[in-house]
This record gives sequence, C-alpha cells and structure tokens, in this order.
Amino acid sequence: MTNSSNSRAASLAHLRRSRLSVGDPIPLPLTMAAIYHTPGDATGFDQYGRFSNPTWDAVEEMLGHLEEAPCVAFPSGMAAISAVFFGLLKSGDRVLLPSDGYHTTRTLAERFLSTFGVAWDVRPTASLLDGGFDGYRLVFVESPSNPTLDICDISAVATAVHTAGGLLVVDNTTMTPFGQRPLDFGADIVVAADTKAPNGHSDVLFGHVASRNPDIITAVTEWRETAGGIPGPFEAWLVHRGLETLEIRFDRMCASAEIIALRLRNHPAVRSIRFPGLPEDPSHNLARAQMERFGFLISFIVASEEKAEDFINGCELIHAATSFGGVHTVAERRAKRGDAVPPGFIRLSVGCEPVEELWSVIEASLDRIA
Ligand SMILES: Cc1ncc(COP(=O)(O)O)c(C=O)c1O
Repeated sequence: MTNSSNSRAASLAHLRRSRLSVGDPIPLPLTMAAIYHTPGDATGFDQYGRFSNPTWDAVEEMLGHLEEAPCVAFPSGMAAISAVFFGLLKSGDRVLLPSDGYHTTRTLAERFLSTFGVAWDVRPTASLLDGGFDGYRLVFVESPSNPTLDICDISAVATAVHTAGGLLVVDNTTMTPFGQRPLDFGADIVVAADTKAPNGHSDVLFGHVASRNPDIITAVTEWRETAGGIPGPFEAWLVHRGLETLEIRFDRMCASAEIIALRLRNHPAVRSIRFPGLPEDPSHNLARAQMERFGFLISFIVASEEKAEDFINGCELIHAATSFGGVHTVAERRAKRGDAVPPGFIRLSVGCEPVEELWSVIEASLDRIA
C-alpha cells in the first residue's frame, strides 16, 4: 500500500480521540434513538432518527477518512446505488451500466428507472471506452467487475465522461478504499457495499456514497432523509467496528489471493482463471496502474456444473455462499445467480484463514474433481 493509505490506516481507530472527555469510553457508544431531547430552538443537534444519529456520524467519519471525501451511509449497497439514481436522475436522462457487473444494478434500472422515464444501456467493462459517452447523464462503472473481474481505465473514462457532460459513478465494492481510489482518478461518486470487506464479518448489510461534490452529497442525503432508507444504528456500530480491522483483513485476503491464484492456474482441474494479479491476465497492466492491491476475488472455470458444485461443497474451508469479502472463504457457482458465465464458473472470495491451510484443502478438493 502507498504511504498515504498507511497513514489513513494508522489514524483510523483514533478519529474520535480529540473529542473525548476524561472518563469517556474509547470504543464507540451505540446510540439507539428515534427521538432526542429538543426543547426550545431545535437547531444544531440531533432531531429525529430519520435525519441523524451519532453512531451513523461516527461510521461516516471513518468512511470519509478512508475515501478523503464526505460520505453518506445507507442500509445496503443497493440502497446507496438507489440514492444515487433517484437522488440525481430525472425523466429524460440516459445512463450507461456495465453489462458484466453486479446484476441487481441492471435489475434496478430495468424495473424502476425505466418506469420513471430514465433510459439505460449496457456495455462490457473491458471495452467501456468504445463508443464514447455522448448523451449519458451518468456512467456507472464497476472495476474490477463482479464476477468476471474485467477492468476499465477509470481515469480515461472520467475524462471522456466529463467531456461529454456526464457524471462518473464507480462501484468500488470489490476493492475498498484500501485497494483503489476512484475519486482520485476523477470519478464524481463512489458507491460501495460495505456489506462486504468493510464490515467483513458477513453479519450486516450496509453501504455508502462518497463524493467531493457538495451538491451530490446534499442530494443523496435528502433522498435518504425523505425516502427513509436509513441505516440501523446497531448495523452502523458493527460496521464501525469492522472498519477498525479492514486494513489488516484486506491485506491478508489480498496476499492469500495472490498465492492461491498462482497455484490455481497450474492445477489440472482449472480450465481458465481470472485474477488481475496474474501477469498474463488481460487486466494486469491496468490493474498495476490504478489498483493498490489486486483484490481478494478470483474467478475460475472447471469442467462442469457438477464438478464446480463438488469442488465447493467438498472443501472444508470454503462455505458455499453468495456474497464476498468476509473473514470466511466463500465460493459460488455464478451461473446459479443468472450471470452470463459458463456453468463451471466459480467466484472464490479468499478469506482470512492462514493461506497454507486454506490452499491444502482447496488443492485436495480440486484433486478430487480433476
Ligand atoms: C459490486 C456490488 N455492488 C453492490 C452490491 C449490493 O450490495 P448489498 O447486497 O449490500 O445491497 C453488491 C452485492 O453483492 C455487489 O457485489
């Protein structure tokens, strides 16, 4: 990681320090409150649980510290994406989405944006720049894309989108602020599912929007306050705790993924593999240029649906589960979720288990299906 990422990591658990009075608890207190004591002039403090909450403030401060931008917290990644769409788009707008990104973002557009008069198109992540961005109010990028792990040049896309008069949104869920910094490359907005690595323990859904444009932050905050899709204080408290260990978990997960990807590509049961850290991967050069780490997701293909299921279910340190980024290693056959991938395509999310122990059971399970 860069020096600036290390310095953000070091100060992350100390952000509240300057505001502590003698005798205050050092860990964050959990404020479960729908109402506050508001006699007289009701300005300058918390009013009502849909508008504000001190536990949200603390988690937003941490996320803002990592993104180096104001952040607004949401109860899930999709709630954050919805806030961007419904807070910023109007009837007559057109948006561009990745054809190979997280499928629910496209479902949201198909099912709801269309009915509000917002048109949408899709394009593959790897060739996102082809065709230009004229006529798009908003371009949405997921890099690396989930689950195929293709990458686009965020800086080049930002320049082209801005020249065409649009806004660039980057879903940074697969990388976290420790792995990639889209706002520094010119993106207007970052959205992320903190459900994944930032919380890291697979017990909470959460999301955030980050932007250095105050009008965008105002729009998504007003959307949250008015539409009412607010994070629960307890969930915010858990994410706050998760964030305190994000850097160490992310470091372990990415380091293990690099070792495992190198070994997977030589295993006879693996027909093909995508991992941006492999020198021969089509994403590798771009990944080196714009990512601080190569991530913890590996996608690979085995001979058939049956073999993929047998591999996942036969491995004692892999949970068969959707989602990714938690301390447990999980895997999923993505065709099961409707992604346009072969039946034997597996997305592996490398967790925090010691890597040699993890590899020995992965190898044994692959040997069984080879
Ligand atoms: C890339 C990406 N973005 C957004 C989401 C949505 O997050 P959530 O499930 O917290 O709504 C996901 C969920 O898997 C995802 O993978």
